[in-house]
Amino acid sequence: MGFYDDDDLIVSAMADEEDGRVVDSEKTGYDEVENILRPKSMDGYVGQDKVKENLAVFMGSAKLRGEPLDHVLLYGPPGLGKTTLAHIIATEMGGQIKVTSGPAIEKSGDLAAILTNLNEGDVLFVDEIHRLNRNVEEILYPAMEDFSLDFIIGKGPSARSVQIPLKRFTLVGATTRAGLLSSPLRDRFGVICRLEMYSPEELTEIVTRSARILGSEISAEGAKEIGRRSRGTPRIANRLLRRVRDFSIVAGHDEITLEDAKKGLKRMEIDELGLDSTDIRLLSSMATKFNGGPVGLDTLSATVNEDSTTIEDVYEPYLLQLGFIARTPRGRTLTVNAYKHLGLPVPRGAQVSIFEDNDA
Ligand SMILES: Nc1ncnc2c1ncn2[C@@H]1O[C@H](COP(=O)(O)OP(=O)(O)OP(=O)(O)O)[C@@H](O)[C@H]1O
Ligand SMILES: [Mg+2]
Repeated sequence: MGFYDDDDLIVSAMADEEDGRVVDSEKTGYDEVENILRPKSMDGYVGQDKVKENLAVFMGSAKLRGEPLDHVLLYGPPGLGKTTLAHIIATEMGGQIKVTSGPAIEKSGDLAAILTNLNEGDVLFVDEIHRLNRNVEEILYPAMEDFSLDFIIGKGPSARSVQIPLKRFTLVGATTRAGLLSSPLRDRFGVICRLEMYSPEELTEIVTRSARILGSEISAEGAKEIGRRSRGTPRIANRLLRRVRDFSIVAGHDEITLEDAKKGLKRMEIDELGLDSTDIRLLSSMATKFNGGPVGLDTLSATVNEDSTTIEDVYEPYLLQLGFIARTPRGRTLTVNAYKHLGLPVPRGAQVSIFEDNDA
């Protein structure tokens, strides 16, 4: 019990790891625990029923035809399970997965080398596919369409084109925003899946499953509390679980209780809806500095000192989903519900919440 109340101990342990944040603004690279918690099959993959049903049909049909699965584009906010799904697709199709990312492929030759090393039925997973450079992208078009590498050798009148056949592979691309993909690239995906934010019930299931894998007991109420406050995102649910588990262990509990969850989340400054200090900073500066908007993304970014891409990819989707902000042609506006959540008086003429497609 003694340790539990030791603010310094707990706060410094947290500050080291994540700077008080719960959402990722940068890819932090390889995370071993994240890998352990990744479901390995469709059965373990919670939620996303529409995507799973469609993929099951397309994969089943491809197998019956004896052909590789069509190229798949997965898009949606960070931490919703794109990488996980790409691995599951490879496993279910019986192929190997090769993992790379848009920014990692610098030259067209790099991509050519990767492509020529693929075997029939392999999955090439290209993360952040919207960040491929033009030259590299052009190599990809014939590779995706005709399983062929097209090169021009030589210059001027003696130039000739050479084709190298490739094994039939499946490209799985992932991006946080499909809108950033060039249309020739997007058109070459036969299957396009948009991942949705998860319901509190699905996240509770994920938390329960992850606790089991981590070898921790968790009460149903404890799991529910974490699930409900994970802003629709499995990665955040898992991360909150791990931190709450720390609180529970230090408190000497042999089960993660509702109390542990509440205390832990409070220490991490996660509010009742799962918003963290940056969300609150964003919302309150819209209220107090911009009269609720409309305010442009770049202005907002400068005011809260947060990268505009991060705001757009990481923070906004959940705030839009909650109906706390709305996008208008002139910028972002704060809605009535947001004022209420912040405990501020609602100004006359404040926008009522409307549902908005966050990829518009
Ligand atoms: N449907 C799911 N069921 C259970 N766990 C999931 C599910 N989706 C994701 N997770 C968990 O969330 C974590 C993050 O998922 P993943 O790395 O696949 O997200 P991502 O969409 O690729 O994120 P990013 O855009 O940042 O690359 C994984 O470790 C996995 O354990
Ligand atoms: Mg990923």
